[in-house]
Amino acid sequence: MTDAKKLFIKTYGCQMNVYDSERMAETLEGYEQTDRPEDADMILLNTCHIREKAAEKVYSELGRYKNLKSEKPDLKIGVAGCVAQAEGEEIMKRQPLVDLVVGPQAYHRLPDLVKRTSNGAKALDTDFPEEDKFTRMKGRPKARRAPAAFLTVQEGCDKFCAFCVVPYTRGAEVSRPSSQVIREAQDLVERGVREVTLLGQNVNAYNGHDTGLAGLIWDLAEIDGLERIRFTTSHPNDMDDALIAAHGECSKLMPYLHLPVQSGSDRILKAMNRKHTAESYIRLIERLRDARPDLMLSGDFIVGFPGETEQDFEDTLSLVREVRYGSAYSFKYSARPGTPAAEKDDIDGAEATERLRKLQALLTEQQRAAQDAQVGNEVSVLFEKEGRQEGQMVGKSDYLHAVHVAHEDARIGQIAKVKIVESGTNSLKGEFLREIA
Ligand code: 5AD
Ligand code: SF4
Repeated sequence: MTDAKKLFIKTYGCQMNVYDSERMAETLEGYEQTDRPEDADMILLNTCHIREKAAEKVYSELGRYKNLKSEKPDLKIGVAGCVAQAEGEEIMKRQPLVDLVVGPQAYHRLPDLVKRTSNGAKALDTDFPEEDKFTRMKGRPKARRAPAAFLTVQEGCDKFCAFCVVPYTRGAEVSRPSSQVIREAQDLVERGVREVTLLGQNVNAYNGHDTGLAGLIWDLAEIDGLERIRFTTSHPNDMDDALIAAHGECSKLMPYLHLPVQSGSDRILKAMNRKHTAESYIRLIERLRDARPDLMLSGDFIVGFPGETEQDFEDTLSLVREVRYGSAYSFKYSARPGTPAAEKDDIDGAEATERLRKLQALLTEQQRAAQDAQVGNEVSVLFEKEGRQEGQMVGKSDYLHAVHVAHEDARIGQIAKVKIVESGTNSLKGEFLREIA
């Protein structure tokens, strides 16, 4: 297609946005993607509203497109994702360059919205439509794909943690029927995918299968050629017995679990409306480790939630010491408009920054220890791409560590046993032993 228009998509935020960006690009027939905004006929920002900084980045990025738009008046600029959902028309008021705004539940209507802007009009769709966007979109393209893919199975959240915009931007929990998910997974496998990460804001609340997420995982494990299954993000209260057991019994389910706790203080957990305690979280981790002793854990933490005292913060550090995380994400609390916590007074900013620094130092130390402990082990690695150095391959271990291997026989898409020989800054180095799948 020589006269195809060019589409530049910039994706912010979570893995679901990465998946949504792929699907949005697929709905826009007649466009091919470019990684240079200056070549684009359409620029789409797929945005994140989770913290203030994430939302502000969108406006500064839009400001940069002013010259492009004056040079090329036909250039269309669109805002998608959670900022689009949360701010809607306000975006066009604040930044008149924007031609269209589309929320995360309406992006199957993107081609129509683009058409509506053809005579210079503005278009906005932030509905939560009755119809299922997944059945409305045409089939996915048949092109070959990278060996690891994301697959959205659930969207939205009914938990209403006091700090979080997700229940408002992504709406109520909705699960895709398992038959639809399995078909999409089969299709991905036919195109070279060997690992899927099942995505949902609250993925373990998945109810599109009679026996929940565990049932879906077991059905997916039946697909020949699909070798690895992961899922993210989970809420502790939705880790049911079947899902815990699957960690021990389903060999295709990888031994890595992202299970956010947010705080180690019961007082703060209550104020956050998390509906679990530090103790119940730790007991859950014990059950998971009984099922799968080598399970690598990852978490999310917020420091400086309104009312957090030094003792509350110490409780968070204690929980982290007890759990021992393989990796983790930690954030300074950011008041989000419309959430219950935003009504409360923030704690001192410098104090929150200092707590974040301390927590991150501890988490980094744990991450380092978990990575260094791999040296000498034989792990399996799915090779995903060529490394920066000539003759190198990079892949991910079962535990999601990046592993570099120098081996002529290693190919992209292959799973091999690798002996770990060195632990570097952000990745491991290994020796290729043998192909296993
Ligand atoms: N401020 C800081 N961090 C937040 N998160 C969600 N909302 C906020 C907020 N208002 C973090 C939580 C969540 C992760 C995706 O982002 O830790 O698990
Ligand atoms: Fe937000 Fe996760 Fe809490 Fe849902 S469970 S409100 S997505 S932090």
